Amino acid sequence: MAKKVILSGMQPTGRLHLGNLEGALANWVALQDDYDMYCCIVDWHSLTERYKDLASLDDDIVQMAIDYLAAGLDPHKVAIFIQSQVKEHAELHLLLSMITPTPWLERVPSYKEKSEKLGLDSYGFLGYGLLQAADILIYRADFVPVGKDQLPHIELSREIARRFNALYGEIFPEPQAKLTKVPEVPGIDGNKMSKSYSNEIAIADTPEVTADKLKKMFTDPQKLRKGDPGRPEICPVFTLHKIYTPQEQCDVIDRDCRSGELGCVADKKHLAESINKALEPIRQKRRELEANLGYVNDVLAEGAKRARVRAQETMAMVREKMHLR
Ligand code: TRP
Repeated sequence: MAKKVILSGMQPTGRLHLGNLEGALANWVALQDDYDMYCCIVDWHSLTERYKDLASLDDDIVQMAIDYLAAGLDPHKVAIFIQSQVKEHAELHLLLSMITPTPWLERVPSYKEKSEKLGLDSYGFLGYGLLQAADILIYRADFVPVGKDQLPHIELSREIARRFNALYGEIFPEPQAKLTKVPEVPGIDGNKMSKSYSNEIAIADTPEVTADKLKKMFTDPQKLRKGDPGRPEICPVFTLHKIYTPQEQCDVIDRDCRSGELGCVADKKHLAESINKALEPIRQKRRELEANLGYVNDVLAEGAKRARVRAQETMAMVREKMHLR
């Protein structure tokens, strides 16, 4: 039986952080055996915001590919590729733009928010959700692994698929979101870890940088010094412990933090050790890949080749249904 198809995508933000690793990458790695997987670095999407700031775009893409591979995505199982290397995404985007009412795009929550907040008013930015629909539909994907912030985009993709199927004939399955179960990973300031908050620990950080960043991490504001009782349930350091420190040790930390016996300085040092230990194999692989960029570029070229096969198959069906040559 043919495997179901998964399409996943991430904007090339450069080096990935623990939030990306636990929230997305770990999930993709877990899915790669059971699905026909396409993993797309969506450089065109990133142009909607960073069109004035492209000098590091190519390096950001390569660094992201390195993190994918270091985290365990297997290029024999997953097509890892750059969106702009598969031009069929653009052709499908254009054709779908003819059947997509602009109000559908205007009402996507992230569009409304960002266009006001960041003053984004380009035609391309309005089409962000449509381009994402094209990314998904061009592979006739069954599932899209995403966080809940992306649900409106997946919903839009389904609406566009339905509309195409009704107008021209059934081609597209209606893609479903595959929600990631991992809890939100807090950053150094206690907010959700995100590059835009500059609160991240990168996969590529050294163990020393990791420890230094953790020293500054936000904790229970009522625990000012060792001896004060702390509340692990509201402490972002403890949230990270729950991801990276074995359960029995977490139980001890929980107890000793509450009693005041454990101070934050020692606790953060322990967390740095846990994180550095968990990341060491990934960081090691990362270093090897950085020394072998030829291989990384080959993976991207090979991934694009495989993605094109499926994308071209879809476009042949689309053109036929639309009476285009
Ligand atoms: N909008 C997604 C994000 O910001 C990125 C993206 C673009 C995407 N195309 C996609 C995600 C296709 C999943 C599938 O994270």
